[in-house]
Amino acid sequence: MDIRPVATKPFAGQKPGTSGLRKKVDVFQQPHYLANFVQSIVNSLPRDQRDCLVVGGDGRYFNAEATQIILQVLVGNGIKQVLVGAGGLLSTPAVSHLIRKSNANGGIVLSASHNPGGPGKDFGIKFNNASGSPAPEAVTQAIYQNTQSISQYLAADLPPVDLAVGEEYRFAETTIKVVDSVDDYAQLMQSLFDFDKISEAIQSTRLSLCFDGMHAVTGPYATRIFKDLLGLPDRALKNCVALADFGGGHPDPNRVYARELYDFMMTDEAPELGAASDGDGDRNMILGRKAFVSPSDSLALIAQHHQSIPQFKSGLVGVARSMPTSTALDRVAQHLNVSCYETPTGWKFFGNLLDEGLVRLCGEESFGTSGDHVREKDGVWTVLCWLSILADLQRPVSELLRQHWTAFGRSYYCRHDYEGLEADKAQTIMDQLVRNRGSILGRMVNGMTVSDVNVFSYEDPVDGSVAHNQGVRVQFDDQSRVVYRLSGTGTDAATLRVYLEQIERDATNQGADAIEYNDVLGEFANHIAQIREVSGLSQPSVKT
Ligand code: G1P
Ligand code: ZN
Repeated sequence: MDIRPVATKPFAGQKPGTSGLRKKVDVFQQPHYLANFVQSIVNSLPRDQRDCLVVGGDGRYFNAEATQIILQVLVGNGIKQVLVGAGGLLSTPAVSHLIRKSNANGGIVLSASHNPGGPGKDFGIKFNNASGSPAPEAVTQAIYQNTQSISQYLAADLPPVDLAVGEEYRFAETTIKVVDSVDDYAQLMQSLFDFDKISEAIQSTRLSLCFDGMHAVTGPYATRIFKDLLGLPDRALKNCVALADFGGGHPDPNRVYARELYDFMMTDEAPELGAASDGDGDRNMILGRKAFVSPSDSLALIAQHHQSIPQFKSGLVGVARSMPTSTALDRVAQHLNVSCYETPTGWKFFGNLLDEGLVRLCGEESFGTSGDHVREKDGVWTVLCWLSILADLQRPVSELLRQHWTAFGRSYYCRHDYEGLEADKAQTIMDQLVRNRGSILGRMVNGMTVSDVNVFSYEDPVDGSVAHNQGVRVQFDDQSRVVYRLSGTGTDAATLRVYLEQIERDATNQGADAIEYNDVLGEFANHIAQIREVSGLSQPSVKT
């Protein structure tokens, strides 16, 4: 077997966004494109940090071919050990766990998360560091710099590597081990939750679940954990066969794309808990019977009821949320007397806080929650948190929500996405907002007055790094907010995200639908940012 240097040229635009490098799959299929990026990852690793890397992906179209290319480059570079998930499959939280468990120097995740997969659809790659966390900006920047000056990569002429569980190969300096995709992760979950207690509640029919795997990577994890270990019946699992094109669907667990589950959960026949997970298993949607739990509320309720979750019995210490996520978590944190951090969008910003033990629970409004057991958001873990809460408190989800709102006020929350914008127009909208600050201050809507307009910057309390320009916040006198930011995960045109949060403290007025409740504020948000004037769009394309 030969290892040879392959001459190559930089590709423009290999710049990681909110969560790694995402492009249309045919971009990744160009000769050298992926190998260049992987070589750039290796180049960014100091020589003494090339002992062990984990590789796994969400199984989408091109996952198998990409895994072979990555192995060729990693062997070419003499990485001592590579742990790869069987069939090239590992959920994103499972990669994070495997990196931590095996003391690896990092890992490569192949995923475009909730974006559709298949020919003409999306693909992605990202690097996670030794703590299992998506690489921080300094590292992604170094990788990007490398991609812009690369002239060769090293590749081994490997035969096709059969990724059957338990196989072990030795090529040149490298050992490749194929690990079961689910085993380690399932064991971790068993160590964090009281499976007997949940299972007992299920057997006595006090607790039931419907889980939608959206034909994505979580299918095998859900089958092992919910069915084999917790004893839920087959009918509790929907779409749990992982497919390369996610069954033609959009593997994003929200009310739009997991519509069937949502509709079922709104009927009298619904189980106690409904849940769905995304393409790579890090996102989740939580529903009760006739109750939608917004991701921000899910995060706040997990914090509120953390004593029902064995992992958090010793206390939360601190919690964190991304800036656009609703402030429901802040109010619970204040009540619990623990610190609450506000970070920029993207899981990588939680890494240092978790590593330092400053926080134990984090979340984002974009259907992401997780704890200090991994350094990624974790869909199945979130479902286990909810199963634990329900098994312990024996109250329906709808009642827990009502109790929470009565005690802490309700953050009526939703997000308006304006998709398909030309990049310069999207930027103009953001720039104008800041420029027009003076005329926006003092304006009124729904009895609230704009009290501040500011641009969010974040200084990491651990390493002092500063992330500028992380979105514009329009704040009202009663702590309600509108937040504007541009998406960093798209593969096409720009997407403007407008996040709407209105806080309703009057318990008699907390039962409305959040999307309808926020419509007037959404109009106002469009108006003050002149979205219609600049882009021609009078309505968002998606409301979640
Ligand atoms: C989106 C979400 C963000 C999440 C990211 C990766 O990023 O908004 O919260 O961390 O996907 O799942 P965006 O497209 O907004 O940059
Ligand atoms: Zn994801």
